[in-house]
Amino acid sequence: MGRNARIPRVADRGRIVAHRGASQAAPENTLAAIDMAARMGCTWVEFDLTLFGDGTPVLHHDDRLGRVATSASLGEAALADLTAADLGQIDAGSWRAPEFTGERIPLLEEALDLVEAHGLHANLELKPHGLSRETAAAALEALARRPWAQSRVLVSSFDLDALTAFREGAPDQPMAVLFKKPGPGWVAEAERLRAGALHLNFRNLTASLLHEAARHGIDVRVYTINDPVLMQPFWAEGLTGVITDHPPLFMAAGAIPEEIPA
Ligand code: G3P
Ligand code: MG
Repeated sequence: MGRNARIPRVADRGRIVAHRGASQAAPENTLAAIDMAARMGCTWVEFDLTLFGDGTPVLHHDDRLGRVATSASLGEAALADLTAADLGQIDAGSWRAPEFTGERIPLLEEALDLVEAHGLHANLELKPHGLSRETAAAALEALARRPWAQSRVLVSSFDLDALTAFREGAPDQPMAVLFKKPGPGWVAEAERLRAGALHLNFRNLTASLLHEAARHGIDVRVYTINDPVLMQPFWAEGLTGVITDHPPLFMAAGAIPEEIPA
């Protein structure tokens, strides 16, 4: 079928995407991790969008505090029980290393402003934790105010309801479907959503999946891969990019062949 002109696409192919920011070197989903990725020379970052209970859009992977965001007063509170007024009591950096103590959970607004300031591209992953329409609406609202985002932000999600709601409000925004392991209906879902990319777990990548994606003009990136050797056979088969905690591994000479299919 080739590359369908009706499918909105990012301007850049997105070969190396820093997962949750450069999360091997800085606390995931923080401004420090986005900054770190830019300092490393990355052109792409991925981060997770979720909502506090009052609807505040923030970067966070989990549905509660505890693993990567600590608070003496809030403990392991569910994000659904938090409001913007709680942000100052949450430390999203000290779990990672003392030098990051005081790093905050970023607002989506702050993260997008930093992406713009650094001239990066972003893979904005919707993590609705049950709030599909609300999370999509928050992304729509933030991106609508940023004309640059249409060519530099790729919206993805495992949550097809969130992607459907997002697509209704943003017919021209580049999107990716996210499947841990794509099943037989994945192409139909991508085409229904006019998603130009598939993101999947690297353990489930096969050459035949890459060939199928190419037949339908769909880019393929894998998460979360921190070993360039494992990906070597797949570039020649059409792999588009990697989502990695450790971008320098893939930026090293020879990690990605110089001649790969466009
Ligand atoms: O967007 C790719 C990847 O981040 C999906 O999985 O759980 O790391 O958000 P997760
Ligand atoms: Mg993610």
